[in-house]
Amino acid sequence: MSRLRVAVLASHYGSNLRALHGASLEGEARFGIALVIGNNSGSGALTYAREAGIPTVHMSGRTHPDPEELDEAMRAALVAHGTGLVVTAGYMKKLGPRVRQEFNGRIINIHPALLPLHGGKGMYGKAVHEAVLAAGDAVSGPTVHFVTEEYDAGGVIAQSEVPVLPDDTVESLAERVLAAEHLLLPAVVQIIATRAPASADR
Ligand code: GAR
Repeated sequence: MSRLRVAVLASHYGSNLRALHGASLEGEARFGIALVIGNNSGSGALTYAREAGIPTVHMSGRTHPDPEELDEAMRAALVAHGTGLVVTAGYMKKLGPRVRQEFNGRIINIHPALLPLHGGKGMYGKAVHEAVLAAGDAVSGPTVHFVTEEYDAGGVIAQSEVPVLPDDTVESLAERVLAAEHLLLPAVVQIIATRAPASADR
């Protein structure tokens, strides 16, 4: 059975990477994690990937001070690992034009709110859930969408809803949304892998 080769870009803890990797080890999985790229060498995501035996690359403004070189190095690493789908999961940097062009239509992101609500520059992590609570929304939940040049502006692929409860704090809401992310992201990647195996290993 051919499997879609997925590269995950992550900056922080990497719980979505863990969920995706766990799902990739299930018998029915049509995808595998081919590469993890992180911009923070001590992040939970890179540590997890190293321990799990997944190829990793650390690249950032420190390893590549010139943004064009960083963009090209990332594009080359993704191509070299036979990447069919790029997933940004808690990756806090914008992708460069070369990566976006090379993987046009094959880069997806997970965002912890129901886009187009509560997205855009500066809207990540805690700030997103604070905005949901401040707006008095009755529901929230993750969105998986295509990555384009603008933050959180690409077409929505899938969303799942969770309730916002009257006594919610940022932490309690974040935890509920994150649990939903861990179900939604592997499900979306599995569907993409099933329908369009853009690159394959055996
Ligand atoms: C996730 O909640 C993800 O949706 C969010 O960062 C967290 C990363 O968690 N992304 C954004 O806010 C992007 N705008 P993780 O490192 O445990 O996967």
